[in-house]
Amino acid sequence: MDFSLTEEQLMIQQAAKDFAQNELLPGVIERDDAQKFPDELVRKMGELGFMGMMVDEKYGGSGLGTQAYVLAMEELSKVDASASVMVSVNNSLVCWGLETYGSEEQKQKYLTRLASGEIIGAFCLSEPEAGSDATSQKTTAIDKGDHYLLNGTKNWITNGGRAEVFLVIAQTHLDKGHHGINALIVEKGMPGFEIGPKENKLGIRGSDTHSLLFNDVKVPKENRIGADGFGFKFAMKTLAGGRIGIAAQALGIAAGAYDLALQYSKQRKAFGTEIANHQAIAFKLAEMHTKIQAARLLVYQAATDKDNGNDYTLSGAMAKLYASDVAMETTVEAVQIHGGNGFVKDYHVERLMRDAKITQIYEGTSEIQKIVISRSVIKD
Ligand code: CAA
Repeated sequence: MDFSLTEEQLMIQQAAKDFAQNELLPGVIERDDAQKFPDELVRKMGELGFMGMMVDEKYGGSGLGTQAYVLAMEELSKVDASASVMVSVNNSLVCWGLETYGSEEQKQKYLTRLASGEIIGAFCLSEPEAGSDATSQKTTAIDKGDHYLLNGTKNWITNGGRAEVFLVIAQTHLDKGHHGINALIVEKGMPGFEIGPKENKLGIRGSDTHSLLFNDVKVPKENRIGADGFGFKFAMKTLAGGRIGIAAQALGIAAGAYDLALQYSKQRKAFGTEIANHQAIAFKLAEMHTKIQAARLLVYQAATDKDNGNDYTLSGAMAKLYASDVAMETTVEAVQIHGGNGFVKDYHVERLMRDAKITQIYEGTSEIQKIVISRSVIKD
């Protein structure tokens, strides 16, 4: 496979790198501490076209491919994974789902504003008792003629406190299992829709994660995405692409930690020489570098599959499984290479280590990716 990048892709990569260094790096430690992310930075990401990268220009997007998107995700994630998860959810789970399966009216009403970054969206599948076991939806959307009556709770929702538009997965036909599930567009402020408390998280602390409560929320029928009962397929298809974005995020976290460790090991001296000259450190760097490049190739393969119209469920799951493990392993080693300095916040690697962990959990845990991968290889 040829992964040489086009001029346009190289430009996007550079733009994301510049934005990350100039706008995200200052204040990243403070944002992590305060668990805050300023609206101003979200607005800038929208202006630069990062919020609707793969959306057609006629709907306010940047009209780019998945490869450009993963390049941007990698660069943003090297510096601030809280920013990149907002980008990832808005692009892969919200905009892509609406553009691919939404009606023209839904695209005009919601996608145009989401893709331009004017507003941002959230994807609401997980529940207190339905995380990995996503078919066990307890949230109900009962058909009342011209609307659905939505009741239930969603958990761990990225962008929960900031989003204006929520794609909510809920059970309509209680006797039909996953064939009775729908995906509904819910707007912030609809009567009966309450945003629960913000989660106090280990990592990606700048990103805003909430539970959501629905109490007799009337959702108009025209807000259903796709045909009646399409909701679970919608969620699975959307997540298959979302996993490529998270794989790119994991890759970026790993590459960011590696860059810092490499730089540090060429400056820090011990036993009369820079620590990079000690084989104990040099071999760690060699392993980190090799694994990051392997992860990058898996991410590029999945992105290329999606851009070429090939099935990407398997390649996306492999990319996420591997890149998230590499992110975890690399960030732990980056802390180790930094020694005592790695354990304090100023050196960034401890934050990257905390941020890495979620990539093995959200948008399907590593165990779920192994289910997806093993089913695919056994079937073949
Ligand atoms: N594309 C299309 N359809 C798919 C699919 C895919 N990739 N994967 C499954 N399906 C379909 C199946 O074909 C099946 O439909 P039919 O019965 O019509 O054939 C249906 O979905 C159910 O599939 P399974 O029988 O395989 O269901 P299962 O109960 O064994 O579970 C699973 C499948 C893959 C484990 C799924 O439950 C899953 O992906 N779980 C993890 C959920 C997840 O990723 N959650 C993340 C939350 S979102 C998030 O984190 C966002 C955030 O804020 C960052």
